[in-house]
Amino acid sequence: MRFDIMTLFPELVDRVLGESIIGRAQASGAVTIKTWNIRDYSENKHRRVDDTPYGGGFGMLMAAPPIYNCYRAILDETPGDDIRRRVIYMSPKGKVLKQSIGARLASEYDQLIILCGHYEGVDCRIVDEIVDEEISIGDFVLTGGEIPACILTDCVARLCPGVLSDPECFDRESLTDGLLEYPQYTRPYEFHGVKVPDVLISGHHANIEKWRAEQALGETEKKRPDLLRGSNGEVKG
Ligand SMILES: C[S@@+](CC[C@H](N)C(=O)[O-])C[C@H]1O[C@@H](n2cnc3c(N)ncnc32)[C@H](O)[C@@H]1O
Repeated sequence: MRFDIMTLFPELVDRVLGESIIGRAQASGAVTIKTWNIRDYSENKHRRVDDTPYGGGFGMLMAAPPIYNCYRAILDETPGDDIRRRVIYMSPKGKVLKQSIGARLASEYDQLIILCGHYEGVDCRIVDEIVDEEISIGDFVLTGGEIPACILTDCVARLCPGVLSDPECFDRESLTDGLLEYPQYTRPYEFHGVKVPDVLISGHHANIEKWRAEQALGETEKKRPDLLRGSNGEVKG
């Protein structure tokens, strides 16, 4: 899968996504991530990308032309009518990111083009013209879309084939099946007086599975009871 990230701060994004698992996934070719500096596409001699909002008001807005030129450059570099691409604007006005959204994007698209806003956001005409979907990372406002873009990219990329060594890693983890993951233990056997539950060292796989299923339900009831309830507040069957 390919990610093209339009930003005013490419170094910030490159630094975050160049490390650890996603960094290795790029090195192995499992995913391609390219950052594009919107400022390089400004037609202004001072490379200006922002301006004051019409009608007055606080702060500066990112202007539409440099973003559009940057977007066209991405399409020129990645031509093909058969590429399943999705243009996403990271925005506090978007749908809040969930594991299910990450899974949908990972399975339905070959290329995500991600726009990071900054300042007071972007001219709404660029959103109307090129954006397919707005995604928020939560009900709060950040200074820019770079950290949200890194979060979305990490969430989607780790679901792509070849990124994690064992796909089972995400089959059973929190939120994939609507529950939180069961509690996990590793060595030492006893830590500050707390021992590993007997069932986990019993070697009895059916009992371990049963214990984990019960624990996952208990963990969800305790920490995220909202996940067990439908949108009408009723407990799911
Ligand atoms: C200061 S915010 C702009 C907020 C905008 N004036 C509003 O009230 O909706 C600047 C940029 O940060 C990004 N951003 C801020 N909060 C975000 C969030 N919760 N999720 C995704 N992106 C966010 C967006 O790209 C946004 O254009």
